[in-house]
Formats: sequence, structure tokens, C-alpha cells
Amino acid sequence: MESSENQWGSRLGFILATIGSAVGLGNIWRFSYVAYDNGGGAFLIPYFFALLTTGIPLLILEFSFGQKMRGSAPFSFTKVDEKWEWLGWWSTLVTFVLISYYSVIISWSFKYIYYAFSGAWGSNPEAFLYNTHLQLTSGIGELGGVNLSVLLIVLVVWLINFVIVYNGIEAGVEKASKIFMPILALLMLIIVVRGITLPGAVEGINKFLEPDFAALLNPGVWLAAYGQIFFTLSVCFGVMIAYGSYLSEDSDIVNNAFITALANCSFSFIVGIGVFGILGYMAAQTGQPIEEVVAQSIGLAFVAFPKAINMLPAFNTVLGVIFFVALGIAGISSSISMVEAVSAPVMDKFNLSRKKATTIVCGLGFIASILFTTGAGLYFLDIIDHYNMQFGVAVIGILEAVVIGWYYKAEVLRDFFNPISNFQVGRWWDIMIKYITPLFLTYMLIRSFVMELNQPYAGYPVSDLKIGWIAAAGVLIMSIILNLLPNRYDGLVKNET
Ligand code: PHE
Ligand code: NA
Repeated sequence: MESSENQWGSRLGFILATIGSAVGLGNIWRFSYVAYDNGGGAFLIPYFFALLTTGIPLLILEFSFGQKMRGSAPFSFTKVDEKWEWLGWWSTLVTFVLISYYSVIISWSFKYIYYAFSGAWGSNPEAFLYNTHLQLTSGIGELGGVNLSVLLIVLVVWLINFVIVYNGIEAGVEKASKIFMPILALLMLIIVVRGITLPGAVEGINKFLEPDFAALLNPGVWLAAYGQIFFTLSVCFGVMIAYGSYLSEDSDIVNNAFITALANCSFSFIVGIGVFGILGYMAAQTGQPIEEVVAQSIGLAFVAFPKAINMLPAFNTVLGVIFFVALGIAGISSSISMVEAVSAPVMDKFNLSRKKATTIVCGLGFIASILFTTGAGLYFLDIIDHYNMQFGVAVIGILEAVVIGWYYKAEVLRDFFNPISNFQVGRWWDIMIKYITPLFLTYMLIRSFVMELNQPYAGYPVSDLKIGWIAAAGVLIMSIILNLLPNRYDGLVKNET
């Protein structure tokens, strides 16, 4: 059982799975709107800075930490010291919360495949998204009904996740990634080539590539860049620790981490060029400035894209379908990594079989998703995501860097992964983990607290934002409780040396 259920079959399989996790809705839906909100080109410098100083160092850390400790995040932190187990649970539960709405966004992509076919969004995709598709209520106080057709597709998303993860690492996750990733690359290529060959595209692309040095002084842009890097690389979610634990003990780490990060970020970058090309085209067609082509950035993928599709001179339906199929595939290959990252700790801690653990996790996950299919679902999604990421993930990032950098010692981990890697990292890595990452993140966290105090997030009433704080605090408390529960780690048979 141990052989393929909890082990990668090949290096290529591992890399495709980590890229599958990394490349997701974050690269298409989130990256384009975060870049758009932060002035396009202004965003790229902080983005690459965060990638090099924090993203890649943490990716190396997580791969090697899982590989060395041979277990999921809670188990791996327990091996550093039992009192750190909760930190592993914290990232696990943050991920659980994340999949509960991530799977809903995937379901929208699936539904939009159908809309693209039928042309359902008509001449006003914006009104269509909010009124017809989401049936958005006036605010969080008005829950609205559950949208049954969306719920049904959410169930399908969960079933796909379930079947893949249930089948184990080699026969499930790895096999799925080997099918999904080449298809995704091809579909995106078609979209991007179409995007950049449209009249007016150049203006849009210039907007994306134009560096805006003044924006470097804006802490909000830096914050957004760090947030995007964590999200896009799937670090601090327990995902890459779990994936690392299924590597054989002498697998390369450093090279794999660089390949994953570069593949992910080039994907975002190329999609960004395609998306801004399309925005440029729309601006040229409507005579609006690029900044004003979409009113609400969160709807970029579900509003701007349908609008662009409407305007295209030819092949509208085909391109619409291709785009939403690509979005759906990117989403699923990421959500399976989240399901794995939540199921693995359940297997480890309670000594459950993979089949039992995935059944429990997917069952509970589906139930949690229901909230986001209501008429107020988008508000819940927006608010909970904000606190889950801004505070959950940021604090986890700081603690992970500190616990491993200072307590376990960065040097010790580096001495483990360097000898098995194709190329070695130097002392710079220790410096990033021990100093740069925790210091920058702490600064950023304080800045965002101050921003938050001065101006409630996205103009929501403070009473609405409470739900975000409650969710974030609830997750933290649950992790501590899980730490206190007796564990079955002793009975765990992991292929240890
Ligand atoms: N990296 C994925 C994306 O960009 C999202 C993700 C986050 C996946 C956390 C796993 C864990 O969409
Ligand atoms: Na990504």
C-alpha cells in the first residue's frame, strides 16, 4: 500500500503536480485583477521582489521540510517540537477554509462554459454575473436562497476532488496532473495568442509592462504582491509540505522548487499579457481608458472576459468555452492539492486510511461550501478570503520562517537538502528565511492592521467584517484544540530511514 499511494511515481510527476497546485485560479482570475487594481506595471517589481526573497525560499523550505520529516504539516512541526503542532494545523485549516470557496469559484467557471455555449450572458455580462448568475443580495444581512444549480456543480467539483485524492498520490494526483497540465498549457496559449493579436492590444500590454516607480512607495501595492506570491505558489498552506513528504529521500529539492516557481510565474505573466491585451482591445473599441474598462475588478474573469468575447470579430463561442475550460482545469488541479493537504494531516494524526480521511474532508468541505452558494455568498467569500489570507497566511508565514529558521535552524535544513539537490543554495537562503521574510512580513502585517483600522476593508460596514475575524479566530482556536488532542503519530508507519 505504501508504495504508490503515498509516493510520487516520477520526478516529472511530482513537478507537474506542484505546478498543478501552483497554477490555478490565482494565476488567471486573481493575478489579473490584483495587477489591475495595483496599476498594472506598478505591481511587477514588488511581485518579483516577493518571489525571490520569500516565495522561492519558502518553497524550498516546504519541499525539504516535508521530505525530511516525512509527513503532513502538523506531523512535521511535531517533529520539530510537539508544542508547534498547532502551527501545522493552522495552515491546514486555513486551507480548508480556502477550498470551501475556491471550489465554488471553480463551479462558476464550469457554469460559464455552458453560458459561453448558450450566449446566456447577453449584452450586459456585469448585470448577468451579479443578478442572474450569483443572484446577489443587497448585503450580508440578507442571505438569499441557496443557488441550487450552482450547488449541484459544486457537488460535482467536490466529487472530482474526492475521486482524484482518494486514489492516492501516484494513481490520483500525479496521473491527473499529467493529463491536466498539458491541456491547460495549450488552451492558455490559444487565448493569449488571440489576445495579443487584437487591435489595440499593444496599449493594454504597455499598461501592464510599464513600471511605475512612484507606486513602489505605496505599501498597499507591496502587501498585495506578498499576498499574491503566497497564494500563487501555494506556500504556507501545508500543501507543499505534504507534497514534499511523498518524495523519495534523495529527490532533488532546489531545482524542483525553482522549476515550480518559474513555471508558475511565467504562466501568470503570459496570462497577464493576454488579459491586458484584451483589455487594451476593449478600451480601443469602447473609447474608454483601460482603467475603466471593468468596474469591479473581482469580476475581471467573469465580466471583462465575457464582454471581450462579445466584442470579438470571430470564433466568440469557441474562445469563451476555451477560456472557462482552462479556468476550470487550473482550478481543479489546485483544489486537489488543497484536499490532499487537509486529508494528509487527518490520516497522520488519527491514523486513518486515505479513503476514510478523504471521505471526511470532502464531506465537510462540501457542507462548508454551501454558504458561498447563497445570494450573499460573494460577500462572505470576499470578507472571509481577506482575513484568511491577510492575517492567517501572513502570520503563518512569519511563524514558519521563525520556527524553522531559528528554532530548528535554517542551516540544519540546508545541510539536509543541499547534498541531494542538483545545485546548491548558499547562505543567502538562511538570511532570507531568518531575517528578510519575517521582518518584511511583520512590517507588512502592521501596515495592513493600521490600514484596516483607518479604513474598513473594501468599504464594508464594520459589523459585516466581524464574520471575517470570527472565521480567522475560529480557525486558530481549532488548531490549538487539535494540538491538544491525543495523536496517533507513534503508530504512524512512514517510510523513514
Ligand atoms: N496556487 C493556487 C492558485 O494560484 C491556489 C492555491 C492556494 C493552491 C493554496 C493550493 C494552496 O490558484
Ligand atoms: Na498560482
